[in-house]
Amino acid sequence: MATNYSVKTKSDVLPNSELVVLFWQKGKLEINKKDEKQVQKSLDKLQASGDKNECQIISYPKGNVYRTLFMIGLGVAPALDSLRRGVAAGIQHAKQNSIREISVVVPEVFEYENVGKAITEGVELGGYSFTKYLSGHEKTERLKAIKNVYVYVKKEKVSEVNKGIKIGKEFSRATILARDLVNEPAAHATPQALLEKAREIGRESKGQILVEYYDRKECWSRGMGAFLAVAQGSVHEPVFVHLVYQPIENSKDMPTIALVGKGITFDSGGLNIKTGDGMETMKIDMAGAATVLGIFSALAKLQLPVKVHGYMALCENMPSGNAIKPGDIVKTESGKTIEIRNTDAEGRLTLADALLEAQKIKPDYLIDLATLTGACVVSLGEDVAGVFSNNDEFSEKFMKAADDCGEQMWRLPLVEDYKPLIKSYVADLRNISTKRYGGAITAALFLQEFVDKTPWIHVDIAGPSYAEQQVNPVMPPGGSGFGVRTILQLIENLPK
Ligand code: BES
Ligand code: ZN
Ligand code: ZN
Repeated sequence: MATNYSVKTKSDVLPNSELVVLFWQKGKLEINKKDEKQVQKSLDKLQASGDKNECQIISYPKGNVYRTLFMIGLGVAPALDSLRRGVAAGIQHAKQNSIREISVVVPEVFEYENVGKAITEGVELGGYSFTKYLSGHEKTERLKAIKNVYVYVKKEKVSEVNKGIKIGKEFSRATILARDLVNEPAAHATPQALLEKAREIGRESKGQILVEYYDRKECWSRGMGAFLAVAQGSVHEPVFVHLVYQPIENSKDMPTIALVGKGITFDSGGLNIKTGDGMETMKIDMAGAATVLGIFSALAKLQLPVKVHGYMALCENMPSGNAIKPGDIVKTESGKTIEIRNTDAEGRLTLADALLEAQKIKPDYLIDLATLTGACVVSLGEDVAGVFSNNDEFSEKFMKAADDCGEQMWRLPLVEDYKPLIKSYVADLRNISTKRYGGAITAALFLQEFVDKTPWIHVDIAGPSYAEQQVNPVMPPGGSGFGVRTILQLIENLPK
């Protein structure tokens, strides 16, 4: 059941909902004097500091309702993401306590642009739960949705906030599509099933998104030897998918962006088989492709003014009598050869051919998203993506979009001195470094070997694409749909 949103005019009287999300900074409570006294007293008792994202719950009887104030700290430099996170945490509290209605009072510290969007993302993404395979009580509990969200803003901002809510719903829906795909077991989310999803998105776009795909034979005739090598150990047929979104308006002068998503539907490691622990969550190795599909599902709905191409080399990495072996040498679409030293470094093999294919249309911008290395998780932890780029201007635009969306990313260097580490004696490249350290960087350098001068960004999402446990309330356990919102935001900003 969908949540209803109503935007109302704010006064200094507290809204009459069971749960009210209120934002504050030390010494600054935007409420009437009478309530302020009572609230401040409770905050003092709790020794609340008002630090960024601090969450304090104050409950007291008010008339005949028992009202809960959900107090979110903004710290000294308020950031829009506190709004998103605060609302997400509030929604989770409401769900746990069977509260069906919440009010959010928008503090005056923010520019109103994007406020409606951030609140809606907090509601939709914080309230998300993957329940498809649950039954009984747990399913009913987790399916409980918030009926009404009331957003209180200054009178003159009502229409602007309503606009933001509409965009926020679309960004969230796209993110949730990616989450659902990542959460789907590998037995179901096969290359064929992801192709079907792409075609469904094409059909729903009413002709604005075209979907073409190449089977094994066609991939072979195109020379995608590296992609097919990874696929050869699995009983599931590989498929290469290309999506094209064309804006309705005259698109002649619009920029073109190509998006490539790693699409390994299960990564067992192949003959270099992973440990049991290492394999447990490897159904998520298609998160990059899921992000691309999430983005495409929103392009036509938002009528974004950019030409967008999506590429996914979909296959499964399995050990078998047919599987690739360490020492095998494969040839990519450009003719460059690779010595496979480790069958578990498979993502970069499939991405090499996908990146080459993507550059055939000569895009103005190129982005790949990949759950590429455990090393990136070691460097940045589970919640932050690694960003690599050959172009400072493009990467600044990208990082700004990420920041606006509250998706945490950090730029890492493409260290030229490490390039010899991926040179092979018997082929042009080897798929793992000769040295143990800096694995996220050497993987990115490997990808760069297949990128020309096109402004390019590689996003290593091995950490944040999936949360075993919740850290950030905007990302409940499971697939996160990481990257969908940042790239939609980037695409929206590109022509500006
Ligand atoms: N899919 C994995 C990377 C990964 C690890 C994603 C953890 C999500 C969470 C990738 O294919 C892989 O196995 N990489 C190897 C590379 C190594 C063999 C050079 C790794 O990171 O161990
Ligand atoms: Zn692997
Ligand atoms: Zn992998």
